[in-house]
Amino acid sequence: MKREISHSNVAFAAAAIAIGITSAALGWLREPRELRLDPPVASGLDGLRLMPNGISGTPPESYFALGKPYETDAYNLSQGKRLYAWFGCPACHGDGRGGAGPSFLDGWWLYGPEIVSIVASIRDGRPHGMPPFRDRMTIEQIWQLAGYVQTIGAYTPKVAAPGRDDDKQTRPAENRGPAKILFDQGPVGVHPDQGPSP
Ligand code: HEC
Repeated sequence: MKREISHSNVAFAAAAIAIGITSAALGWLREPRELRLDPPVASGLDGLRLMPNGISGTPPESYFALGKPYETDAYNLSQGKRLYAWFGCPACHGDGRGGAGPSFLDGWWLYGPEIVSIVASIRDGRPHGMPPFRDRMTIEQIWQLAGYVQTIGAYTPKVAAPGRDDDKQTRPAENRGPAKILFDQGPVGVHPDQGPSP
C-alpha cells in the first residue's frame, strides 16, 4: 500500500517537472530573451531617421529585424517601467499624468505619438524643458522607456503589460488603455506658446 502511494507521488512529481520544463521551453520559444544585444544591433537602434522638425520619421531597420520588441514585449515594457522610476521621469511627468512636464495619458502628443518621436524626445530632449538622456542611458534603454511611455498613453490596451505596481495604483493600469479613460480631462502641462488649446 505504502509503496503504491510513493510510486504515484513519484509519477506525479515527474509529470509536474516535465510540464514545467515544457512550458519554460515554450515560453522561451515565444519570446527568446537576449540579455545583451549584439553591439552592431544596439548601435543600429541609434539610426532613426527623423523629419527635419524632429517629429516623426522612420525607425531603424534593426528595430524591424528584432521584431519591434519594444512596443509589444512584456519584458521590455517592464524594463521601461523600472527605468521610468529610476531615471526620475516622475519628478516632471508624475505617474504619467504630467506635472512640470506634459501628461502622457491625455491623448495629446506635442511631438507625435509614434515610437520614433518618443525615442527622439528622450534621447535628444525637447526645447521647452525636456532634458536629453542620451549620455545617461544606453540606446536600448531609451527604446525600452519609449515603449513603456507609449503603452501608458495608448488608446487601445496592449496585450502585454508590465508587472503590477508595488505601491498603490494612482491611475488605470498600463494594460487598460488609460489614455482612452482619461482623454476627457484634456491636455495637462502644455507650454503656453505651443501645443493645442483645449
Ligand atoms: C526636468 C523635468 C523633466 C524630466 C526629469 C523629464 N522630462 Fe520629459 N518633458 C519635460 C518637459 C517640460 C517636456 C515638454 C517639452 C516641450 O514642450 O518642448 C517633456 C516632454 C517629454 C516627452 C514628449 C511628450 C510629447 O507630448 O510629445 C517625452 C516622451 C518625455 N518628456 C519623456 C520623458 C522621460 C521618459 C523621462 C525620464 C527619463 C523624462 N521625460 C524626464 C520635462 C521633463
